Amino acid sequence: MKKSILLFNLILLLGTSAVFAAKITADKVTRPAGSVPFQGERADLVAKGESLWNDKSLSKNGKKACSSCHKGATKMFKDSFKNEYPHTVKMAQKKANMDQVDAEEMVQFCMLAAMKQPDVLPWDSEDLAALTAYTEDVVQKNYIEHSTK
Ligand code: HEC
Repeated sequence: MKKSILLFNLILLLGTSAVFAAKITADKVTRPAGSVPFQGERADLVAKGESLWNDKSLSKNGKKACSSCHKGATKMFKDSFKNEYPHTVKMAQKKANMDQVDAEEMVQFCMLAAMKQPDVLPWDSEDLAALTAYTEDVVQKNYIEHSTK
């Protein structure tokens, strides 16, 4: 009796984790044709992006911000981050078979892979434009200047 309950729970657990670990595919993180990015003043977007970068509520469990992994805006990046976008990012290549990604696609990629959200940010959202602007103008520049790799 006990054994069968255990087995049942195990199957349930495996089933739910499979649902949450849905495979990331290129089409999920690539901007849909015809969609238009949010337009705003660059400086405003960068400022908003900075607060979002540290905002744990962006993650599914509310416990992780972009800065939790990318500490000091230099950690968890590889040398490829020094190259102009689009470029190759190992994780995107490995998980979604994408040979080239841009900054916006990587924000969306981390929303799924790292922040564990079931969906990407809306393509016309200010949040996406802000995180992308902050990534390009501050995080990448900071990495190029301060990475010791
Ligand atoms: C759980 C840890 C984790 C969290 C949280 C996280 N990331 Fe990442 N991020 C990674 C890893 C791992 C990579 C892949 C590095 C590689 O393969 O080069 C990465 C790569 C990136 C890259 C690509 C860098 C390049 O080389 O072009 C960007 C941009 C990025 N993340 C932005 C974000 C943003 C924005 C958030 C918050 C929405 C975020 N990340 C949250 C782990 C994380």
